[in-house]
Amino acid sequence: MTGNDIYRAIEFLKAGELVAIPTETVYGLAANAFNATALAKIYEVKNRPFFNPLIIHTDSVEKMKEWGLTIPEKMSQLINEFSPGPITYVIPTSSQIPDLVTAGTNAVAIRIPNHPLTLSLLAQIDFPLAAPSANPSGFISPTNAWHVNEQLGDKIAYILNGGECSVGIESTIISFVHEEPTLLRLGGISKEEIEKCIGPITDGTQYTLSKDVEDEAPLAPGMLSRHYAPSHQLIFGNVKKYIPYFEPERIGVIAFSSIYENIPARNQFVLSMNRDLKEAAQKLFSAMREADKMDVDVILAEKFPDEGIGRAINDRLKRASLKE
Ligand code: TXA
Ligand code: MG
Repeated sequence: MTGNDIYRAIEFLKAGELVAIPTETVYGLAANAFNATALAKIYEVKNRPFFNPLIIHTDSVEKMKEWGLTIPEKMSQLINEFSPGPITYVIPTSSQIPDLVTAGTNAVAIRIPNHPLTLSLLAQIDFPLAAPSANPSGFISPTNAWHVNEQLGDKIAYILNGGECSVGIESTIISFVHEEPTLLRLGGISKEEIEKCIGPITDGTQYTLSKDVEDEAPLAPGMLSRHYAPSHQLIFGNVKKYIPYFEPERIGVIAFSSIYENIPARNQFVLSMNRDLKEAAQKLFSAMREADKMDVDVILAEKFPDEGIGRAINDRLKRASLKE
């Protein structure tokens, strides 16, 4: 069932049911993070491996402290600057946080999402919401209620419809577990923006992107190389170079602002005519879903400028291009 009734969503959450919630990044599949049965449902519905921990969501730092968490100084500075917003903090966990949230590790990921419906919901509950992206494990994250309904609609109690996600790509994850703050996932807030606020940080994202899944140090255990998997072959990089190898009508294209001659217009997804990286990020996952529904042999995706949120776009396309 889909609707915009916050009270109904709260009732379901209190009863240990799963509710999809809108955030500015992507839709989350939420459960009461203090209810182990509800947490187990998340893993079951998403078919998520148990080693992959969950992000918890709340609306205030006071609540984080009530749950026994200590906020490092640099995290406080980032909260002042960017939260509510597309950034997740990994910090030492507390005894109140269940093992099913942390996947048995000694750290917990927490964020304050920036969406009016969800902030209002969070303000009315005294427990955190554990919420991974509301897609089956390994698939493209949902950026509207319809995406969620398509894949999980019959498995969950309620979808709180908050419209299209304004950022469209998942939160940036930064860890404060080791001495140096470490970037674990590229996302809605860029490394440059973070460094402007707290100074140099260690970039741990390369450890989560290697071709050989066995080889990688899973700093963010869920950042397996292959992710955002379309069912078609996706080739990421120089589109022009690969066009000659396929029939033009059998090619789908995801581009920043370019239009490619000879390829049917309906097969081409141009993410921002004005070359605005934020607009491109906002449209990326919808375009990937639409492109994947086409009857084509291949999807060719451009490499975006490697700056700001463009780095997160390239990260997602790269993962989508990797073979199992
Ligand atoms: O934008 C977002 O962050 C969205 C919305 C719904 O908030 N959520 C999201 O959750 O993307 P998910 O579960 O799809 O991705 C969370 C990532 C995973 O790669 C997971 O391994 C990592 O965060 N993570 C969660 N807890 C962690 C922890 N304690 N230590 C390190 N990484 C953690
Ligand atoms: Mg996810």
